Amino acid sequence: MRKIQVVIAERTREAKDIVRLVLRSPNTEVLPSFTAGAHIDLFLPNGLTRQYSLINDCAEADRYEVAVSKAAVSRGGSACVHDTLNVGGVIEVSEPRNNFSLQPGHDRFQFVAGGIGITPILSMIRYCESRSWRWRLLYLARSRECAAFCDELGAYGEDRVRFHFDDAAGRLFDFADPSFIVEPRVPIYCCGPAPVMNAVGEFSSRHPENPAYFEWFSPPAVVEPKAASGFEIKLNRSGTLLHVPENKSILEVLEEHGYELSCSCREGMCGTCETNVIDGVPDHRDYVLSGNERAVGRTMMICVSRAKSAVLVLDI
Ligand code: FES
Repeated sequence: MRKIQVVIAERTREAKDIVRLVLRSPNTEVLPSFTAGAHIDLFLPNGLTRQYSLINDCAEADRYEVAVSKAAVSRGGSACVHDTLNVGGVIEVSEPRNNFSLQPGHDRFQFVAGGIGITPILSMIRYCESRSWRWRLLYLARSRECAAFCDELGAYGEDRVRFHFDDAAGRLFDFADPSFIVEPRVPIYCCGPAPVMNAVGEFSSRHPENPAYFEWFSPPAVVEPKAASGFEIKLNRSGTLLHVPENKSILEVLEEHGYELSCSCREGMCGTCETNVIDGVPDHRDYVLSGNERAVGRTMMICVSRAKSAVLVLDI
């Protein structure tokens, strides 16, 4: 994985516990391009690696912009960003990756953002605006003070941006409410906490003409424990056969055997460890691949996914 050095050119407070960072090349070089909905890894001073969506216009080649919410119970990533990344500081980032891109064939979109889930949606809105595509946004947050970019989004008008603040409404948003209308054949792009994602998924399953696409920032709060069993992997380039026991991931087994592979989140969310499958049937346990990509089974996230067949042949 290529690492890129960037300097923190700006830092602004966007809402309660949310900061925006503008990252530029120290020698004003053009940064690798990205598409709306993409994210980068930040390699933080405390040794952690965290993924953050790019919020700026993907036509801007001179900067990456991210917005980071300080988690109530930080595992060290967001707290490090808030406490140590200041203007003038230099850090490394990855090249952009996109697991949440706008699918071709549409020019109308419904966006649903919950809290800091607004970040990938923001770059999608900027992209839609640049193409004069129609879009609507439902933006959910606990309160207005917790919601970033309200002024900018509010300027698009009530016909396009609907805010729902739990404290003002006195309740959570109800996706079964008749006021939530999505035009037929308009896809829904959703990013937010698990209850919002699950509610949008249920809405989409009741309205199949509105396919839903998701970007997970963290695994769903309730993860069904799935029984794991051992299986074999065959590495296509060398013919090596390795056993993956029930208590280890494919990635861990490969690392134990000296393979240095790209990985980042190790939770099936970032897409960094995506590996081509030559033969066999993966048991997908990630939050990156679409239903169609899972069904085709040509790639898998080896940090979490396993095998339904006795042997998987991988392009390694
Ligand atoms: S390392 Fe992030 S999906 Fe595997």
